[in-house]
Amino acid sequence: MAPPNTKKYVADVVIFALSQVALYFAVKFILNSLDPLKDKKKEAKAKSEEVLGKLGIKNLKLNEYEEVILSEVIFPDEITVNFKQIGGLDPIIQSLRESVIYPLCYPQLFTSSSGLLGVSKGVLLHGPPGVGKTMLAKALARESGATFINLHVSTLTDKWFGESNKLVSGVFSVAKKLQPCIIFIDEIDAFLRERRSNDHEVTGMMKAEFMSLWDGLTTDENSRIVVLGATNRPNDIDYAILRRMPKRFAIRLPNEEQRRNILEIMLQDSNLEENFNFTELVNKTANFSGSDLKEACRNAAMIPIREYTRSHAAPGGELKDVDPEKMNIRPLRLSDFFVQDGSSNQVNISMSGSSSLTILEQERLD
Ligand SMILES: Nc1ncnc2c1ncn2[C@@H]1O[C@H](COP(=O)(O)OP(=O)(O)O)[C@@H](O)[C@H]1O
Ligand SMILES: *[C@@H]1O[C@H](CO)[C@@H](O)[C@H](O)[C@H]1NC(C)=O
Ligand SMILES: *[C@@H]1O[C@H](CO)[C@@H](O)[C@H](O)[C@H]1NC(C)=O
Ligand SMILES: *[C@@H]1O[C@H](CO)[C@@H](O)[C@H](O)[C@H]1NC(C)=O
Ligand SMILES: *[C@@H]1O[C@H](CO)[C@@H](O)[C@H](O)[C@H]1NC(C)=O
Ligand SMILES: [Mg+2]
Repeated sequence: MAPPNTKKYVADVVIFALSQVALYFAVKFILNSLDPLKDKKKEAKAKSEEVLGKLGIKNLKLNEYEEVILSEVIFPDEITVNFKQIGGLDPIIQSLRESVIYPLCYPQLFTSSSGLLGVSKGVLLHGPPGVGKTMLAKALARESGATFINLHVSTLTDKWFGESNKLVSGVFSVAKKLQPCIIFIDEIDAFLRERRSNDHEVTGMMKAEFMSLWDGLTTDENSRIVVLGATNRPNDIDYAILRRMPKRFAIRLPNEEQRRNILEIMLQDSNLEENFNFTELVNKTANFSGSDLKEACRNAAMIPIREYTRSHAAPGGELKDVDPEKMNIRPLRLSDFFVQDGSSNQVNISMSGSSSLTILEQERLD
């Protein structure tokens, strides 16, 4: 009974609808391929899916900013450092356990009606370069059992993303979804440096956003999130930030006992000469930082190897007789640490100059 042109009419509608759909996808495709962030977003999405998979979390909805942040999560099995490899910082490790790990992971121990036992929401590690601050944070990531976000300032200020504020709120919302969580910011002075007049406006806004969300942690009793910062230059940090990091650990250049401890750890797998005099080595490495000691050990360890390779090299330079079974490399001697052969082995100049750094004002930070 339909009028004869109904068929044509229906067909027109269908064609029109199809063309709209096609147009929609075409436009979407074009916009997508014009989007300069496409690859980055894809990368972030892929990485974040991988991370969620590893965390064993399904069906967690994240926006694209949160996905970017999720790619900064690091896993215990990606880290090779543990607390045992850190020398001379046992008291600090113990306090970190008590002030970071336990409150995050065993909150039931710290509940009290007065709220006095609450978790400190900000912890700062400060001290001269090379004393093991970053190492300590890594070990914490490995051993804490909390989610560990290794937040790079460059991620937040990435020009491509532009929207630093949204990334900052992504940091806190991801942390909340994955708590207990440690947000680690290495060289935090660079991120939250004292606000200067020449600060870019965007960075200023980002900081303000960061701080207000940070304050949110303090008021939310149930949040199990800690911001952990490390810096060589605590005096460059905005006072507003310092105030939010009431727990501060000063890590200083290692003293005699600490150096002995560190050296014993670093040399534990080395073949040392009989009666290797640790006391003397410790005595001669005054003012060395942990990383200076590492460098000195590395250089010293090279010497017996170099002797071996030189004495076994053919005139052309190739090695002979390098049966790994038969290689007998002599044990490391104390004197290897004091060789002066013009290359990089001098103990006395291998210091990174840590001692010349302005170490912070005690009044302000301890
Ligand atoms: N206390 C320490 N025990 C063992 N190794 C240390 C110690 N401090 C520093 N090191 C060595 O120095 C390297 C650099 O330390 P790092 O944590 O980067 O110093 P920082 O972050 O304080 O500048 C570490 O990878 C480690 O090999
Ligand atoms: C090791 O060196 C120290 C200081 O140089 C010295 O006093 C001590 O007697 C030495 N110890 C041994 C076992 O040689
Ligand atoms: C090293 O040992 C010498 C002699 O035993 C002593 O005078 C000096 O103070 C020691 N130096 C350090 C840094 O311990
Ligand atoms: C170590 O540093 C202290 C203080 O800066 C200085 O007095 C001392 O001479 C230094 N020692 C060595 C062996 O460089
Ligand atoms: C340090 O090295 C210089 C040469 O680079 C040498 O002249 C000096 O005696 C050394 N000092 C010590 C304390 O070993
Ligand atoms: Mg560091």
